[in-house]
Amino acid sequence: MSVVRDSVRIDDFRFASGDRLPLTVAYEAHGDPADPTVLVCHALTGSAHVTTGDGDPDWWDLPAAPDGQAGAWWDDVVGPGRAIDTDRYHVVCANVPGSCYGTTGPASPDPDTGEPYGPDFPPVTVGDWVESQRRLLDTLGVDRLRAVVGGSVGGMNAVEWARRYPDRVERVVPVATGARMDAQALALTALGRRAIVTDPAYGDGRYYGDSDPDEGLAQARALAHVTYRSRDGMDRRLGRDPAAGPVGPFGDDPAADDAPALAVESYLQDRAAAFVERFDANAYLSLTRAMERYDLGAEHDSASPRSEAREDAADVAAALSDFDGEALVVSVESDQLFTPAQGRRLAEAFDRAGAAVAHERLAGDRGHDAFLVETDAVGAAVGPFLDDGIGGADGADGVDRGAPVHASLLSG
Ligand code: COA
Repeated sequence: MSVVRDSVRIDDFRFASGDRLPLTVAYEAHGDPADPTVLVCHALTGSAHVTTGDGDPDWWDLPAAPDGQAGAWWDDVVGPGRAIDTDRYHVVCANVPGSCYGTTGPASPDPDTGEPYGPDFPPVTVGDWVESQRRLLDTLGVDRLRAVVGGSVGGMNAVEWARRYPDRVERVVPVATGARMDAQALALTALGRRAIVTDPAYGDGRYYGDSDPDEGLAQARALAHVTYRSRDGMDRRLGRDPAAGPVGPFGDDPAADDAPALAVESYLQDRAAAFVERFDANAYLSLTRAMERYDLGAEHDSASPRSEAREDAADVAAALSDFDGEALVVSVESDQLFTPAQGRRLAEAFDRAGAAVAHERLAGDRGHDAFLVETDAVGAAVGPFLDDGIGGADGADGVDRGAPVHASLLSG
């Protein structure tokens, strides 16, 4: 099977903000370019490295692969014979602008100064991600997409394709996402950003070459990680157990007196410590802001957030009105970051816009991370839809395959 790991350069990329920069876009392409193309969009801190493609398990949070990418993050879903079958589809995944895995972002050198852009990197939007992917696909000679698939903010990325290029996309699969973040999710993301910018090492954001703001980034990630897990799932796995070992690399809590550290603390610090090894703080700020700003129902995906805290179903449907393909919205029952209710509203917007749509809910207590770790369930939902669309499902207006982890929403 053909595997390409490469990058394209766009000499004069225009961001939604109006800024123009030379942009390098790192991507992976698996399979035969003559087959129908499926674009896979990564989540907030993912990379173009969607799969090893050869069956070797690799993993999201393992130390960076030799090419500097995060580990293959959907290895069980994408590959030969897997749900997104690279023997039958040409699968493309690109790292988004603002990230730090090969595509130009804040840690990349500004050609004018030779120094990293840092906080001077333009504000990025989900629309910018789509435009960078469109330019990449144009370069690869791909005009039509069988499907765009993505999880979390990658799901917003997928939906934005249906909005911007309805004639190029046949099917869209947003997983564990919504039309916009709700206020609680925005609040927690904002607190994470505060943790970064108040880390003394962050300074004016030009920390490159000095100490990175690891502690701020770690606390931002730990806070976010709580939202990636469900309340029940964390309680089941960690409960009130004491920590088995040291709590992490960021020092003891001076106010803890003789109270034993808890497993949940050491778990979060373990995950956060692994994260800071692989991610840049300015890139994290850049990408979280893009996610925060995204609002499908807003007239434009601009750098200005909408002032009214509402999710207007008519606006969201209007944004999708030109899309007459098919959509499968996949939600996770225990997701507290993008709830099943948000998924349902997104599915209803597709329906209202005249698209054929199904909404599938994945059961279990793995929370938002289910889209990464419940790969059998995700694959069972996505694979048949890619192959046969809504018609591949048993239900007329919903999906009902009888598997215990799936439940139709629109049909129920
Ligand atoms: N104290 C310290 N470390 C602990 C621990 C504890 N009490 N309990 C578990 N761990 C460590 C384990 O040792 C293991 O470490 P290792 O990977 O270095 O071997 C790790 O935690 C296992 O993580 P866990 O979350 O339990 O595994 P999982 O299979 O459920 O999920 C990931 C794996 C990678 C998906 C998850 O850990 C993660 O990082 N999630 C965030 C991914 C993400 O970005 N999601 C959102 C996208 S928008």
